[in-house]
Amino acid sequence: MGGCRRDLLLAVFAVALISIVVTYTPAAQGATASTNSGAAASGATYVGSDICQGCHQEQTAKYAKTKMAKVFASAARTPAEKQGCEGCHGPGSKHVEAGGGKGVGGLVSFRKGAESAKQQTAVCQKCHEKGQRVYWEGGPHEGAGVTCTNCHKVMENVSDKRNFAKETELETCFQCHALKKAQLQRSSHMPVREGKLVCTSCHNPHNSQGPRQLKQNTINDNCVSCHTERRGPFLWEHPPVVENCGNCHTPHGSTNPFLLKVRVPRLCQECHNYSRHPSQPYDPSGSTANTRVLGRGCVQCHPQIHGSNHPSGSMFHR
Ligand code: HEC
Ligand code: HEC
Ligand code: HEC
Ligand code: HEC
Ligand code: HEC
Ligand code: HEC
Ligand code: HEC
Ligand code: HEC
Ligand code: HEC
Ligand code: HEC
Repeated sequence: MGGCRRDLLLAVFAVALISIVVTYTPAAQGATASTNSGAAASGATYVGSDICQGCHQEQTAKYAKTKMAKVFASAARTPAEKQGCEGCHGPGSKHVEAGGGKGVGGLVSFRKGAESAKQQTAVCQKCHEKGQRVYWEGGPHEGAGVTCTNCHKVMENVSDKRNFAKETELETCFQCHALKKAQLQRSSHMPVREGKLVCTSCHNPHNSQGPRQLKQNTINDNCVSCHTERRGPFLWEHPPVVENCGNCHTPHGSTNPFLLKVRVPRLCQECHNYSRHPSQPYDPSGSTANTRVLGRGCVQCHPQIHGSNHPSGSMFHR
């Protein structure tokens, strides 16, 4: 009798143990999923993309042409990719049971305000947190509440690559950076509006280690990545050049020649108010105009202003 009881107890214990394991595993998965979507909290389960397509033919047709749709449909590598529509929108059973509808069934809708920017971003980051996006957290865009879908439209191809929210990368940035759009129209500018450079020639909009989301670690590293002849080292260095090209230049556009912040000679005079030769407009000794400030002014005689390798180039004359 006693042995039987013990067996019964063991059996009950084993069943209890199994049910703990069984109930805990999905529950734990549910908990992680809910941080991504909030949908799992409603107890919804995955139904598969075929069911979604039945009611959302129009969206599905456009979506099918995107790179992600193609990869998910034909070359899915991870469980999340195999989930198709629900990989982004979350499990859809409640939405489907209710016959669909706006705000119905706890899907991630990506509508502005429906979920927090952080929740929407987390969905994309499930698959995209590496590569260009390792510094996204804590970056200026993340901090300002910008989310992936401000720059990327993923349900259809609006741009010919990268799923931009607008037709081109520039238009995508100009949605919010109107000042940059204006600066690029100024007379002196790098060839961005001519299409030779884009914002991402210099910036990583997902954030970087460098200042101002620059791809390089310093402003000078950025400039000399293309203007290699300015890299140096020079025998005779001009300290403000070594320090920061931004001491004299502004990157996006200027009404002064050569993207200068201030025109020569005033630019030079900001730092060189005393020198062995006078630099005021009129020669104090007479009434003749001072040639040192005419034409290209100072750089007419000091053309190697970025530094010189000539043995006697200490004055940047040669
Ligand atoms: C029975 C038909 C039906 C099915 C099946 C269905 N939906 Fe819907 N869904 C709708 C309707 C209707 C709307 C509301 C459309 C509107 O208001 O423009 C909707 C809205 C949505 C929205 C927008 C939600 C919002 O709050 O803005 C998303 C996203 C969505 N569905 C995704 C899905 C996904 C993913 C699936 C598959 C898991 C799915 N739907 C299955 C009918 C359906
Ligand atoms: C890669 C993530 C992703 C996948 C996969 C995805 N969607 Fe979406 N969906 C979004 C985003 C983001 C939005 C918000 C609007 C936008 O950015 O295009 C959206 C919006 C929607 C909407 C509401 C807006 C509208 O156009 O009416 C519906 C409905 C929808 N998706 C259905 C689907 C269906 C059906 C599938 C699968 C065939 C699917 N989605 C797959 C991310 C995704
Ligand atoms: C389930 C995983 C998964 C999710 C979730 C996901 N993606 Fe993707 N995404 C992919 C894969 C896979 C590719 C294709 C990568 C490749 O092979 O180049 C891709 C490609 C892209 C591309 C590049 C397209 C191109 O033309 O080069 C963009 C942009 C993108 N995803 C944005 C998003 C955004 C925004 C979201 C959230 C709304 C999102 N993704 C959600 C897996 C995912
Ligand atoms: C401020 C605009 C902006 C935001 C916000 C943004 N992106 Fe991008 N994304 C871009 C631009 C521009 C490119 C093209 C970069 C290039 O061609 O090198 C790009 C490229 C990509 C690519 C394809 C290149 C690659 O890295 O594989 C993916 C994937 C991508 N973004 C995903 C995301 C995800 C996920 C988020 C949210 C965490 C996000 N993006 C937020 C502008 C943005
Ligand atoms: C949805 C609006 C939005 C879009 C689209 C957008 N930005 Fe921004 N961006 C902001 C906000 C907000 C800030 C932070 C406030 C500020 O400095 O203006 C910012 C800041 C920046 C900064 C300065 C970072 C810093 O450290 O001060 C750079 C660089 C930048 N964005 C580049 C881009 C590029 C490149 C694109 C296009 C690929 C882009 N942004 C698209 C809203 C946007
Ligand atoms: C040739 C390189 C280059 C290109 C191209 C470029 N930027 Fe910049 N950007 C910079 C540098 C360098 C800084 C830092 C300036 C400083 O802090 O003195 C900067 C700073 C910024 C800032 C923050 C500080 C400010 O000036 O407001 C924003 C926002 C910005 N860039 C947006 C853009 C956008 C949008 C585009 C595309 C239209 C773009 N940039 C193209 C080099 C570039
Ligand atoms: C991605 C490449 C690239 C980067 C990075 C870059 N430039 Fe340029 N820059 C160009 C190109 C291309 C031109 C057009 C003239 C040419 O072909 O040399 C140009 C032109 C200029 C001009 C002449 C403008 C005029 O009005 O004639 C100045 C000055 C200049 N860049 C300064 C800078 C500074 C300062 C930086 C760093 C903030 C920088 N560049 C970063 C590519 C770049
Ligand atoms: C002390 C001020 C000053 C600093 C700092 C400076 N520049 Fe210049 N830069 C000038 C002046 C002045 C001109 C115009 C020269 C002329 O009129 O011949 C110029 C012209 C240029 C030009 C266009 C003409 C050419 O010679 O190709 C480029 C490109 C350039 N600078 C790049 C840079 C880079 C890159 C840095 C940082 C490594 C830098 N500059 C730092 C003053 C400066
Ligand atoms: C941001 C400040 C700054 C600007 C702007 C500036 N310089 Fe300089 N410059 C310096 C400093 C600092 C030195 C090093 C002085 C020293 O070593 O005593 C220097 C050195 C020189 C020298 C070498 C002579 C010497 O005393 O070593 C000449 C020539 C010169 N600068 C000309 C110019 C010209 C021309 C311009 C305008 C295109 C200019 N500088 C703009 C800060 C500046
Ligand atoms: C007509 C040619 C010429 C012009 C124009 C000119 N310089 Fe000079 N600069 C010289 C010569 C030559 C020397 C060397 C003088 C010496 O060694 O006594 C010199 C030396 C200097 C020095 C270093 C010696 C000192 O006096 O501290 C600085 C700084 C300087 N110039 C700045 C400028 C600035 C700023 C301008 C524009 C306002 C300018 N130069 C315009 C020819 C010129």
